[in-house]
Amino acid sequence: MAWHAVAREDELGVGQMKRVAPAGNPLLLVHAEGGHYCVDELCSHEDYSLWFGCVKGRSIKCSLHGSYFDLASGKPLNEPADCPIRTYNTKVENGQVWVEAG
Ligand code: FES
Repeated sequence: MAWHAVAREDELGVGQMKRVAPAGNPLLLVHAEGGHYCVDELCSHEDYSLWFGCVKGRSIKCSLHGSYFDLASGKPLNEPADCPIRTYNTKVENGQVWVEAG
């Protein structure tokens, strides 16, 4: 695992997200309540892109069937999804948002 700079610190407003691929895997960087989070781009239910969803509080909603996922833990908050999405450590340093992936 290594740290990768994926966005400027001020690039995303709260509620915005960005597709990133720091180690070749499609991930989503999300600025939500409490800071920046990074999760797998694909929903754990049917591999639908969460980039088409929306951010609410500290969660992200899958727009295909409506499951919400906690951005910090990756856990689904309602059905039909019952498996978590993977989460990645983030930090803000030197004016950049960094994601630990590899
Ligand atoms: S594909 Fe995301 S909830 Fe079904």
